[in-house]
Amino acid sequence: MLNETLEQGQQLTDAALDRLIPLETRHPESIHKAMRHSVFAGGKRLRPVLCIEAGRMVAGSLPERIEELGAALEMLHTYSLIHDDLPALDNDDLRRGRPTCHKVFGEAIAILAGDALQTQAYEVLARLKCPSEARVRIIEEIAHDTGTIEGMIGGQVVDLEAEHTRPTAEMLEYIHRSKTAALITASLVSGGLYSGAKDSQIAKLRGFGLAIGLAFQIVDDVLDVTQTSEQLGKTAGKDTASEKVTYPALFGVEASKQKADALVNEAFAELDSFGEQADMLKELARFLVERKK
Ligand code: IPE
Ligand code: IPE
Ligand code: MG
Ligand code: MG
Ligand code: MG
Repeated sequence: MLNETLEQGQQLTDAALDRLIPLETRHPESIHKAMRHSVFAGGKRLRPVLCIEAGRMVAGSLPERIEELGAALEMLHTYSLIHDDLPALDNDDLRRGRPTCHKVFGEAIAILAGDALQTQAYEVLARLKCPSEARVRIIEEIAHDTGTIEGMIGGQVVDLEAEHTRPTAEMLEYIHRSKTAALITASLVSGGLYSGAKDSQIAKLRGFGLAIGLAFQIVDDVLDVTQTSEQLGKTAGKDTASEKVTYPALFGVEASKQKADALVNEAFAELDSFGEQADMLKELARFLVERKK
């Protein structure tokens, strides 16, 4: 069931992305090639899948055209990866098993491709097929969670400024919650909003998202030290080389894995009131911490 859900979510998302991102032949070609190079490089599409499943849980069935919301989230995520890999940030050559955007298209086009994926995402969000009140709340949620106040950009700033410093547990948690858990939370919350979730349900999705989002980044840090570049499709061992503030650096690999497991169990408790309807989101949460790439 989990594999079918992942596959269905990935297929729906990829088809929507292909419809929504301009073709490579569209003028100016270089930017559209760069956007597609990074988007269609085999990402796991976990944020769209979480969004779709949150929407399905609240509505009781697959909400029509929710994959367009998933696609917008994936555009924002991919923009964050393109910029994360730039020489001025993490300076990475490999992403999703391919040379990074700036390696192929140059830094200027890579910066612009990230920008363009961000603006494209908001164009898609503005056209979502849901009641306009929900659409506005979705846009606000996503903009906030990718912004500077406990959002993705804020987390990236502190992640960079914390390199080569002595980490504290508070700093680490701020970085992980902001740079990663915030967009994962936005994916779940926006999926719920798309399906007309009540405020009490949104609060549960938010609690679940924060916990699994934090677990997700802990696992990302663990995989950076335990897997090879080939397995990951991105450069392994990079965090140690850059003296990044990570869970394994502060607590070791074993304690980090335990922390991720504990967070997933906390996350499960948030969804109790949804009963069996929450089973798929729980399976996905388990998958997020058991993944090997
Ligand atoms: C990688 O995210 C960046 C982080 C926020 C840890 P994913 O592991 O979801 O990357 P893709 O989308 O599958 O490439
Ligand atoms: C990336 O964190 C977070 C965002 C892109 C917002 P990392 O720098 O750990 O991601 P990877 O390991 O390069 O995918
Ligand atoms: Mg980074
Ligand atoms: Mg990085
Ligand atoms: Mg990482």
